[in-house]
Amino acid sequence: MSRIIKFLYWLRDWVGARFPLMQLWNDHLGKYYAPKNFNFWYLFGALALFVLVIQIITGIWLTMNYKPAAELAFASVEYIMRDVEWGWWIRYMHSTGASAFFIIIYLHMYRAMLYGSYKKPRELLWIIGMLIYFTLMGEAFFGYLLPWGQMSYWGAQVIISLFGALPVIGDDLALWIRGDFVVSDVTLNRFFSLHVIALPLALCGLVGAHLIALHEVGSNNPDGIEIKDYTGADGLPLDGIPFHPYYTVKDIVGVVVFLIIFCMVVFFTPEAGGYFLEHNNFIPADPLKTPEHIAPVWYFTPFYAILRAVPNQFAGVVAMGAATVLFCFLPWLDRSPVKSIRYRGWKYKTALALFTISFIALGWLGLQAATPTYTWMARFFALIYFLFFLAMPFYTSSDNDKPVPDRLT
Ligand code: HEM
Repeated sequence: MSRIIKFLYWLRDWVGARFPLMQLWNDHLGKYYAPKNFNFWYLFGALALFVLVIQIITGIWLTMNYKPAAELAFASVEYIMRDVEWGWWIRYMHSTGASAFFIIIYLHMYRAMLYGSYKKPRELLWIIGMLIYFTLMGEAFFGYLLPWGQMSYWGAQVIISLFGALPVIGDDLALWIRGDFVVSDVTLNRFFSLHVIALPLALCGLVGAHLIALHEVGSNNPDGIEIKDYTGADGLPLDGIPFHPYYTVKDIVGVVVFLIIFCMVVFFTPEAGGYFLEHNNFIPADPLKTPEHIAPVWYFTPFYAILRAVPNQFAGVVAMGAATVLFCFLPWLDRSPVKSIRYRGWKYKTALALFTISFIALGWLGLQAATPTYTWMARFFALIYFLFFLAMPFYTSSDNDKPVPDRLT
């Protein structure tokens, strides 16, 4: 054995005598038994972890040259893009990473809706996931103000002023969030602090809790069958395989494919036609000039469309909030005894298909100017969106579900 290998073994044992290194490795990788039938949909957890790391590393490097002051912020981003060595690359990785993060998270959540992963015993895992999602929305919102472009400025202005619609405390709350009567240098400073410290810390803590909760109950799978119910003489699940090496290798393939697509965007179309970086944001913020058309970045537009679809502003804010919070209640709204879509009846399949169409349609409508026709379309799709959740106890409890096999197919 070469000296280096010998040294590594010695180091492992030295650390192991002082820290539960091997136990952690075995609990979460080497002897963590995952169902043997994971498919494409099970890549997105690992990809989310990977993108979180990209965002943190590129964020640290951006912060080295970014200036969180109203007078300097826009110019400092331009300086990063033009003068800092590889600055453009770091910035485009971070901006593309933000959109990639949301694409991955939406697919990750959708997988849970396909296979009933939020159902017992994974309710808490799902709730922690929702807390991650809310934190991620905050992180993206605070980060978007930092380049101090027109859309940064007016987007923040519009969203913060929504809090003003709340009765009694609304105006004071909006003032408290901004720290000023309009979005200003004070707002930029606090958003910077939240974006680079508070929320990333919260995200890392929540992701840790998410994985601990997942490994406590074990992974669900495309059949929605609990593998822990069928164990061999050794006490291990008969339909399980160790996460490492089987799924670490599979996830690495997913990461490589993701990186190919990610690099194509970063190097060839970082603005993604105005979807990832809006054109108006290349104009410095001007508090005296409101852009003609203000729309948030694509990942917020389904909820923005719901907000605009409701005529009363307060009711609109409530509807927008409800559209996100309702996901938290899925484990209790869904009354079907079956988890996976493979064994569900036509009612849930139809409801999920209609929900998918509405979510995409609302996302598109949120990007358009609110003409009367589009507003009515948004009302129609918002209705379907809410019915998916509110009618769920009824159509899931009366669905013609199929019999579920005992073992994985
Ligand atoms: C930074 C964000 C997140 C990271 C890094 C992350 C990571 C992971 C990982 C590594 C897994 C196991 C592999 C997999 O099933 O794909 C997983 C499973 C899961 N995650 Fe997340 N996740 C994140 C956000 C979310 C969100 C926002 C939700 C839902 C609201 C969620 C819900 C779930 C559920 C239900 C499972 C279990 C799925 C199953 O076993 O079928 N996660 N997550």
